[in-house]
Amino acid sequence: MLLDTYGRVATDLRVSLTDRCNLRCTYCMPEEGLQWLGKSDLLTDDEIVRLIRIAVTRLGITEVRFTGGEPLLRPGLVGIVEQCAALEPRPKMSLTTNGIGLARTARALKGAGLDRVNVSLDTLRPDVFKTLTRRDRHRDVLDGMAAARDAGLTPVKVNAVLMPGLNDDEAPDLLAWALDHDYELRFIEQMPLDAQHGWKRDGMITAGDILESLRTRFTLTEEGAQERGSAPAERWLVDGGPATVGVIASVTRPFCSACDRTRLTADGQVRTCLFATEESDLRGALRSGGTDEEIAGLWKAAMWGKKAGSGLDDPSFLQPDRPMSAIGG
Ligand code: 5AD
Ligand code: SF4
Repeated sequence: MLLDTYGRVATDLRVSLTDRCNLRCTYCMPEEGLQWLGKSDLLTDDEIVRLIRIAVTRLGITEVRFTGGEPLLRPGLVGIVEQCAALEPRPKMSLTTNGIGLARTARALKGAGLDRVNVSLDTLRPDVFKTLTRRDRHRDVLDGMAAARDAGLTPVKVNAVLMPGLNDDEAPDLLAWALDHDYELRFIEQMPLDAQHGWKRDGMITAGDILESLRTRFTLTEEGAQERGSAPAERWLVDGGPATVGVIASVTRPFCSACDRTRLTADGQVRTCLFATEESDLRGALRSGGTDEEIAGLWKAAMWGKKAGSGLDDPSFLQPDRPMSAIGG
């Protein structure tokens, strides 16, 4: 098991497959100038599959989520999913993507064994999308989501980040649209993970703001604490249900005490938390002939050092060096 000193057990593995992306969301990346990982730094497909196999067969991981950067940019993605689907016990598998390219790949991913997708979409307005992501690809994202739903990668979850002055008036419209399309919408509070270190706590749109805005058009009733479990999204029934809306309030209502995550970066580092400032290297052991048992031991030791919380509320909080695009959401 991947146990830490606070008694938490990690069963959910997030694997970043690349730090690159075809968008430049302002809360994540600068327009240009970000240094990409070098080819030899990146784990190969076989190395990734081996680490996932170790996690699933020796360390109790039951859920694998592929992230990026943009994971659809990884040429070997379908093959990686296929090999993970063959593991015993078979992990649940999902993908967090910006949706670009999903229209083309959704069916192959479903065929390979992927269960679900989370697609990021912050706005219904193409012009705002272009400002927020610095690319004119709104249509591609909408098409990708529809393809995922049609391919059975369901429920399709939609992640939205609200930015002051840009799309903070869109919460009710996004929810109406998601209900209409059978997508499960979740709002994520903006976190200090942008490469430019431009995050400010004053100004950010909080879970409280989001709920207040949604309540101008919808009746929301709390789903109940037991059902939240280790899921970071607190969910509300919309107009009595069964449809729900989620809010991931990592900043104002952190859920660290129930965290069941462990993360692997595209260059083979274990991260115990999005906000961790330390990492543990597995790539070195992989490439110097380490056995499965040794690698599992390194992973366990890394998790044992997991901190109680994100430290966001600590005056000495330091933003991690790696931006979100190189950690994976
Ligand atoms: N704060 C909150 N969410 C973020 N994401 C990327 N950067 C941030 C940030 N700084 C979101 C993306 C995607 C998910 C992986 O995380 O929009 O939906
Ligand atoms: Fe790309 Fe996701 Fe970062 Fe946007 S948030 S730039 S889609 S990695």
